[in-house]
Amino acid sequence: MVPSFVVSFLVTTSWLFVTLATPTSETSIENKNKKPNILFIFTDDQDARMDTLEYMPNLQKYLIQEGTLYRNHYATSALCCPSRVSLLRGQYAHNTNITDVGMPYGGYERYNELQLGEDYLPIWMQKAGYSTHYIGKLMNKYSVNNYNKPIPAGFDYQDQLVDPYTYVYNTAVFSKDGEEPVYFNNTYQTDVIHTKAVDALKKQRNTEKPFFLWVAPIAPHGQFVKEGDINDLVSTRTEPPEPAARHAHLFQDVKVPRHPNFNPVNQTKTASYWKEFSYLNETQVKALDEAYRKRLQSLQAVDEMIPSLIQELEFQGKLENTFIIFSSDNGFHLGQHRAPPGKATDIEEDINVPLVVRGPGVRKRHISDLVSSHHDIAPTFLALAKGDHHVPSWVDGGVIPWIPKLRNHPKPVSRESFAVEFWMDKLIVENVGASTRPGWNTYKTLRVISDKYNYKYAVWCTGERELYNMQEDPYEINNLYTSDNAIDLKLIDRLDALLSVLKACRAHTCRNPWPVIHPNDPDIVTLKDALHKKYDEHYKQLSKFNFSKCLGYYSIENEEHMFDDRSLLSNNQKNVQLVTKRQIHFDIEESGEKRCSVQQHSSNDVEQVTDKEVTRLFNLVPRSEEPVGHAVPTSEELKKIEQRVPDELLKRNVDWVKYGFYNRFGN
Ligand SMILES: *[C@@H]1O[C@H](CO)[C@@H](O)[C@H](O)[C@H]1NC(C)=O
Ligand SMILES: *[C@@H]1O[C@H](CO)[C@@H](O)[C@H](O)[C@H]1NC(C)=O
Ligand SMILES: *[C@@H]1O[C@H](CO)[C@@H](O)[C@H](O)[C@H]1NC(C)=O
Ligand SMILES: *[C@@H]1O[C@H](CO)[C@@H](O)[C@H](O)[C@H]1NC(C)=O
Ligand SMILES: *[C@@H]1O[C@H](CO)[C@@H](O)[C@H](O)[C@H]1NC(C)=O
Repeated sequence: MVPSFVVSFLVTTSWLFVTLATPTSETSIENKNKKPNILFIFTDDQDARMDTLEYMPNLQKYLIQEGTLYRNHYATSALCCPSRVSLLRGQYAHNTNITDVGMPYGGYERYNELQLGEDYLPIWMQKAGYSTHYIGKLMNKYSVNNYNKPIPAGFDYQDQLVDPYTYVYNTAVFSKDGEEPVYFNNTYQTDVIHTKAVDALKKQRNTEKPFFLWVAPIAPHGQFVKEGDINDLVSTRTEPPEPAARHAHLFQDVKVPRHPNFNPVNQTKTASYWKEFSYLNETQVKALDEAYRKRLQSLQAVDEMIPSLIQELEFQGKLENTFIIFSSDNGFHLGQHRAPPGKATDIEEDINVPLVVRGPGVRKRHISDLVSSHHDIAPTFLALAKGDHHVPSWVDGGVIPWIPKLRNHPKPVSRESFAVEFWMDKLIVENVGASTRPGWNTYKTLRVISDKYNYKYAVWCTGERELYNMQEDPYEINNLYTSDNAIDLKLIDRLDALLSVLKACRAHTCRNPWPVIHPNDPDIVTLKDALHKKYDEHYKQLSKFNFSKCLGYYSIENEEHMFDDRSLLSNNQKNVQLVTKRQIHFDIEESGEKRCSVQQHSSNDVEQVTDKEVTRLFNLVPRSEEPVGHAVPTSEELKKIEQRVPDELLKRNVDWVKYGFYNRFGN
């Protein structure tokens, strides 16, 4: 049986769609003339397309009914690390060059080499007068070995999850403010985050300083399992998330929604990535349904945080002056187009993410179709914080008008279009024990969304192309870009040109790409404007975008197009030229001083150990075999059981990735 609250919330949400909402007056915020607080709840791998929000009753009650649900919010690189860095920096992945979760194209160490954490959201919030707080998972590859190399900048208080325990629900290991990591035996990780988040709020009781609190649990990300007795490198595998014991019985009959793209009898996706997937048999579908249930169960502990946080804000009399934002780093797919569980593709399940906002001036019980992306979040927070001047000019994102006052912002969000991009030489497979498989997942995809049209246009590194009319075909079943379809070449001409700009855009060209294509026509600001037949010839003579070859990383030369000229690439961009490791060394020698605090890890530092030894080290932090999470612990209880991670674990410099942790699964 589906528990009754789920049924009632399913009903409630459909009712929301027909409610005529009245905007809250903005006077409440102006009256106080105080900077609003910002509370950001950020999950990991939660999609917006498989009804997960429907199973979060507190999210429904306290955020959706009291705020606005944004249905068209997107991650533009659907993988944890690239997506988180995009959000933190307000940039597309093609401008951060963080394109993977670990070395050499991503992860905490690469992020530091590129000095990306020296000028980013929390620092801008501090400059705007905020105290800043972070609890949970910040970045991939932040670990027991590098937790203070360096300590993430910009936080007045931080309590970060550390690898290799980030994705182990029953082993909660944190580094507080860059101190030696500690663990909480027999305690459910999300519950520790819950208690720490409430404690962080309690510290705001006697201060009027505005705060920015970011709470980032890992649910509903899959869990990693390290098996003790298998003496080979494949002994790390993933399984569905582990729920808190008190939620493990829920949703027994719930299954992955059987949308038309779920495990289709005939494969309709045409690009190489998809076409080799075979029809999933009953056993495989059962595993997907089980993974889906575990995801919903694991989200319950996140949902339970919401009333605790609301209650504390209310107690302090700050609820009315606090924006609460709920989102996730990227989405997830389970069986759509026959794909095994994973992310990082350009289908809506992977890129469309939840976004719910409540706060002073935000419409209540409203569903919005406004288009936005993760790189717009940081500039929007700074606009709410009245700190726009702290947002560097190189930021790609614009301000999302969550409240009426932001509607005339000089740097508005891109009106209807954005690019999605990815570079990888393998396919990510999670949750079903399986490892990743070979295949190309390198593409550039354009999304254009308005109330009149809705398109997805993709160019793969293999030269394959896809075009979906998302208004008529929301499940991406009918690729209009195939020889047996009469394709609208004039539309393709426009979409290809727009993609060619956005795939390499910077700053203002991301917010309004049209002047690059129409330098003398400032009136053109939408696809509809550009579709006028007087521009047919102009578009016809533009060359089409193509990758030169398939690569698993971002190379400008491999993606060159006529719009990638110097004016597009170098406008106001002096300080964001992508820095390479060699350049950092060079800078240090040149200036004769240690300009950057980044600790360089040479591969020599890393120990060669047997997999058995890695397993032993991993097991130095105990993990309960029994279900944990019967109740959320109090802070006193946490204090009592807090223990330091054994020294041996901190001293040994293990390259966890090499031993099967994380990288293969693309977390
Ligand atoms: C962790 O908890 C388990 C079960 O309660 C107990 O057996 C074990 O001794 C504890 N370990 C540590 C290191 O506290
Ligand atoms: C699958 O393709 C076959 C052969 O083209 C066709 O006969 C059948 O109707 C299709 N089935 C579905 C469910 O679309
Ligand atoms: C389903 O497919 C998997 C993977 O190919 C295979 O191992 C398994 O035996 C199949 N199960 C059934 C019931 O056909
Ligand atoms: C793109 O490149 C592929 C592979 O090299 C080629 O087959 C295709 O014709 C090219 N497409 C266009 C539109 O240039
Ligand atoms: C991104 O980083 C990779 C790895 O260092 C490098 O090979 C590539 O050239 C970089 N791309 C750009 C556009 O700087």
